Amino acid sequence: MVIIAPSILSADFTRLGEEIRAVEAAGAEWLHIDVMDGHFVPNITIGPVVVASIRKRTSLILDCHLMITDPLAYVESFAEAGADLITIHAESTSDMQQTINKIHDLGCKAGVSINPETPISAIDTIIPHVDLVLIMSVHPGFSGQKFIPDVIPKIESIHRRLSSIPHHVDLQVDGGINAENASLVTAHGATVLVAASYIFHSQDYIQAIRSLRSA
Ligand code: DX5
Ligand code: ZN
Repeated sequence: MVIIAPSILSADFTRLGEEIRAVEAAGAEWLHIDVMDGHFVPNITIGPVVVASIRKRTSLILDCHLMITDPLAYVESFAEAGADLITIHAESTSDMQQTINKIHDLGCKAGVSINPETPISAIDTIIPHVDLVLIMSVHPGFSGQKFIPDVIPKIESIHRRLSSIPHHVDLQVDGGINAENASLVTAHGATVLVAASYIFHSQDYIQAIRSLRSA
């Protein structure tokens, strides 16, 4: 069954605890936390202090998506804050293998992500060392953007590549996910769907999550 990871980027931050409890009660398994540094992407969002507060209030898997230039310098802070999974970008400046090893040494699962224009060859050698591959289906930086259908062949290729890995590697898709395109990405092998605006801007989180899952 596909895992649903609501991204709190579209939550009401004045009521963050309630919003998290609501998606947890609505059946979400993971909570996606978009970390942006205003340098790797043109937006600034959440840091480890907020992750530590969230950790005290939920048992959901905390999935930290680091859209930051130098993740190697920060993975320890996010692990200490209580992240379960830390995903870094192939386009960041940190050494990928060293950063993935450090995430594992810190006791977390490790993911690697690529932007829509980045070829899968950029992560080919790191794939056997990660627990998750994240394919961005929008240009990272903001929630509420439109899904880029050109990434579908990439999802398909990554899915094929992951089938050759002896251990399970999740395939996550993030950006513009809604009930219309959820079936398309899961049919091509996605195992984890991230959605911010589709869930948090809906009137009924139970229905929104159910519609993504049953798509
Ligand atoms: C984009 C973030 C996404 C974003 C998704 O940079 O990585 O996780 O919050 O938002 P929606 O689902 O609204 O496209
Ligand atoms: Zn994200």
